[in-house]
Amino acid sequence: KAEKFMDLRSPVCCILGHVDTGKTKLLDCIRCTNVQGGEAGGITQQIGATFFPIENIREKTKELKADAALHVPGFLVIDTPGHQSFSNLRTRGSSLCDIAILVVDIMRGIQAQTIESLNILKRHKADFIIALNKVDRLFGWKRCPNAPIKKALKQQAEDVKMEFDARLTDIVTQFKMQGINTVLYYRNKEMDCTYKNIVPTCAISGEGIPDLLLLSVQWAQKKLKERLIFSNNVECSVLEVKVTEGHGTTIDVVLANGLLREGDQIVTCGMQGPIVTHIRALLTPHPMKELRVKCPYQHHKEIKASQGIKISAPPGHDQEKSVNKAMAEMAVLMNRIDKNSDGV
Ligand code: GTP
Ligand code: MG
Ligand code: NA
Repeated sequence: KAEKFMDLRSPVCCILGHVDTGKTKLLDCIRCTNVQGGEAGGITQQIGATFFPIENIREKTKELKADAALHVPGFLVIDTPGHQSFSNLRTRGSSLCDIAILVVDIMRGIQAQTIESLNILKRHKADFIIALNKVDRLFGWKRCPNAPIKKALKQQAEDVKMEFDARLTDIVTQFKMQGINTVLYYRNKEMDCTYKNIVPTCAISGEGIPDLLLLSVQWAQKKLKERLIFSNNVECSVLEVKVTEGHGTTIDVVLANGLLREGDQIVTCGMQGPIVTHIRALLTPHPMKELRVKCPYQHHKEIKASQGIKISAPPGHDQEKSVNKAMAEMAVLMNRIDKNSDGV
């Protein structure tokens, strides 16, 4: 009961998987957007971030009747590219996250970047859920828009159910060959963490989306209790630096813990050394909109984690002075780390 009153931050969830398994489309389906349709060649080439307020998650999962069990303020989802040349972005994305969703195409099973993603997740010791996407591609699938997956499967003809079972069994075997035990999530009643949960989904008509959302949030809450407690230590990673029309130089970041205020001094790594500047404006897209897509931004005086944020910051003028100051600050910080750490 006490958890309800504890100050929690939103879990950060990274979406990983082979190219064209439907990572962006799954997010589009939840957001009611068409980000994927605007991508060059339908290929994601950047990391994205979308914040889902908990009210929206409650609304989208209400058929599963679990409204009492959600305590976090929301859910921050990081989209990554699946194309083989963006391995660095997959690594960056998963280094930011508390949990991950690994998307697999039910018609194709485990592919090259599925295995690569598994290895990244192993390295980061990140827990994950498997979205078995494109169930509507099973021959004869009857659409049940936005239905929980158990309900959608019940509506299918016998031969569709049989194809589903055969493909599921095959993919479970493929994961076993990678040393990973998996199970259809609603058969894992005890939430046994020696198994990775599989949630069948369709990103076009939304079957299984309520299940995926609810399981991700509940799993994060249950398994990462300590880690989700809000702390004042700022944890913030840069996704991209670019000029945004009307806002000058901006830095897209993921704030994973702590609080940022307008006017705060910030230090980032630059090619020629540290860059010291301050936050001129704190901008976010509207809830359920993608940070990497140009849109009207909301202005904030302060923002608490977790959030995807666009920081507008003047370029570090008086470079030398600010660099010297940054060096001094980093030296202090290093001292502190040396004193406190056992070899960080
Ligand atoms: P990258 O980011 O480029 O790695 O791809 P992605 O994993 O984000 O996949 P994306 O969302 O771009 O979808 C790839 C293609 O699959 C698009 O043409 C989608 O419309 C299609 N697609 C995605 N999900 C589904 C699904 O559930 N069912 C069907 N039939 N098509 C889907
Ligand atoms: Mg994509
Ligand atoms: Na794609």
